[in-house]
Amino acid sequence: MRNILITSALPYANGSIHIGHLVEYIQTDIWARFQNMRGNKCIYVCADDTHGTPIMLRAQKENITPEQVIERYSIEHQKDFADFSVCFDNFYSTNSDENRELANTIYNRLKSAGHITQRVIKQAYDPEEKMFLPDRFIKGECPRCGAADQYGDNCEVCGATYSPTELKNAVSAVSGATPIEKESEHIFCKLQDFEEMLKTWVRSEHLQSEVVNKLDEWLKVGLQDWDISRDAPFFGFEIPDAPGKYFYVWWDAPIGYMASFSNLCDRRDDLDFDAFWGQDSQYELYHFIGKDIVYHHALFWPAMLHGANFRKPTAIFVHGFLTVDGQKMSKSRGTFITARTYLNNLDPEYLRYYYAGKLAGNFQDIDLNLDDFLLRVNSDLVGKVVNIASRCAGFIKKRFDNKLAATCSEPQLYQDFVDAGETIAQHYESRDYGKAMRDIMALADRANQYIDEKKPWVLAKQDGMDQQVHDVCSTGLNLFRVLLTYLKPVLPVMAEKVETFLNIEPLDWKNYQAPLLDHSINKFKPLMTRIEQENIDKMLEQSKQDLAGEKPAEKQAKKSNNDPIAAEIQFDDFAKIDLRIAKIIKAEHVEGADKLLRLTLDIGDETRNVFAGIKSAYKPEDLEGKLTVMVANLAPRKMRFGISEGMVLAAGPGGEDLFILTPDEGAQPGMRVK
Ligand code: MSP
Ligand code: ZN
Repeated sequence: MRNILITSALPYANGSIHIGHLVEYIQTDIWARFQNMRGNKCIYVCADDTHGTPIMLRAQKENITPEQVIERYSIEHQKDFADFSVCFDNFYSTNSDENRELANTIYNRLKSAGHITQRVIKQAYDPEEKMFLPDRFIKGECPRCGAADQYGDNCEVCGATYSPTELKNAVSAVSGATPIEKESEHIFCKLQDFEEMLKTWVRSEHLQSEVVNKLDEWLKVGLQDWDISRDAPFFGFEIPDAPGKYFYVWWDAPIGYMASFSNLCDRRDDLDFDAFWGQDSQYELYHFIGKDIVYHHALFWPAMLHGANFRKPTAIFVHGFLTVDGQKMSKSRGTFITARTYLNNLDPEYLRYYYAGKLAGNFQDIDLNLDDFLLRVNSDLVGKVVNIASRCAGFIKKRFDNKLAATCSEPQLYQDFVDAGETIAQHYESRDYGKAMRDIMALADRANQYIDEKKPWVLAKQDGMDQQVHDVCSTGLNLFRVLLTYLKPVLPVMAEKVETFLNIEPLDWKNYQAPLLDHSINKFKPLMTRIEQENIDKMLEQSKQDLAGEKPAEKQAKKSNNDPIAAEIQFDDFAKIDLRIAKIIKAEHVEGADKLLRLTLDIGDETRNVFAGIKSAYKPEDLEGKLTVMVANLAPRKMRFGISEGMVLAAGPGGEDLFILTPDEGAQPGMRVK
């Protein structure tokens, strides 16, 4: 028996759970259920992530305490999760005594080992509210396109990235005051101390290859001091030896995993906190997370644990992001669907099944295509799986007093179904649920074919064929039982109904080796109904209405790819732009910038230093030596990282889909583009 602890990322306690989050909680829950069905001991803990400025401000606005905000979301989140059958062994809070104590312990241990340092930094400050402002709480006009009402770090309209000090007419989103720059001493964790350890850790553990590549990239750039403190006013834990300074939320958030487990240990005699988290722990530890928080889990977190003499994760399991109908969830399209709005319209097991079918254990994004969702669920679950039972149950009831046949007429077929279990289990183990679902549906097809061939409804009309009818329908239900065993991690509610229907012990990965013979079953009740288009339409409509009730200030800074369409210009306007062929002679990462590359461009008679937001699409080494096109007479812009002397041209929506323009062969650096 393996001893396993798994976690999902802790949802923020100032917003509702939506179907994007559910990719992760459903993925993790399926794995926990699978492990337990296999006879392993798999504990699944989670908590709400409760600290930080947004929660503090939210409480102020509503005139309640942060604790009240947290309490409300804790109840809402737990109800949502329970209704999606996401079954935690413990769902706790980062605002707990256990977490405070552990956050302090880890800090103190790191400090005495010399991994903590401090220095003064400059930050935007709201002189009216007397608080430092995170980037998200500064608004102003985009320094590039002039769009109004943009957040402090990027422009939703043109996609530019910048530092808050570059915003024009910047105001604090909290009070409307003009922010000033103010100095303050911050506390840092010296991550460089852990570089060697992390390099070995990345190599020695079972991380997904995509994760290893990412980490290699980051480690190559080098790690910087990590700012772990925030100034009052802040909602969080005060740092023990630094009055008025608070732990940054990402300090105590992952520690929340430990706190939740610790809290569970108090209730469970079979779990031992120290044995689990000690350096020589024999237990497995896995964190399920989205691809946006790999840095925190694969660099910060192992460093914190290592520096404080705790065990490190066995692996981190990273999944991709949800899109709906191929696009980012959108409030205006109604595809920003909360867990509750979904539940008000559709059966949660539809979504569990659909996500399972799409998940492949890598960090590819997954798409919820609503047409495909309807077809797939109706055809697989209702049309194939449930159909087997509904075709057989009636005959068993009417003709055989709800009792299955005394012998198995198709031992080989049954054995084939049993034998498929190990491969399916391997797919679950490697989180390739998509493959598991395909294998299971192939079995369901075989069961249906078998019934189609035997035609019990025809046999039933013939004299003297009673035994055959009994055999066929009993075999059908026995095959159905094996299928439901394999589907149980994904469809726990349906599995439970089937356990009642078949009058059996809870299905697990062992108790289906032999068919049920001479066994009384119960009355068949419908197990699942079809998805109707109108339920999906209603859900989208209600999601749009959810948006209408939302106050604009609560919207999160979200990037969009909608470039504004420029007004018509005269030739003279165009002629003002000095476009030049440029040769990229050097391309480098920029410390502290997650989107920018620093390019050194040769434009014939001079070289230029340009910061380009193309890091998501290009590796520096792939750019060096390439020719591209730059705007050479753009006024120099001072950025956090230095002065940018022009702009290179690129097309595409952003992220990995960005393409710099390259001229045809023969073009020389410095040539004018006309
Ligand atoms: N509070 C942090 C996590 C702290 S863990 C110590 C956080 N919270 S979150 O609510 O924003 O996200 C929780 C999890 O949901 C993250 O793993 C995140 O990647 C995932 N998802 C959030 N939106 C998602 C999609 N649209 N699609 C898939 N997963 C998404 O980050
Ligand atoms: Zn802009």
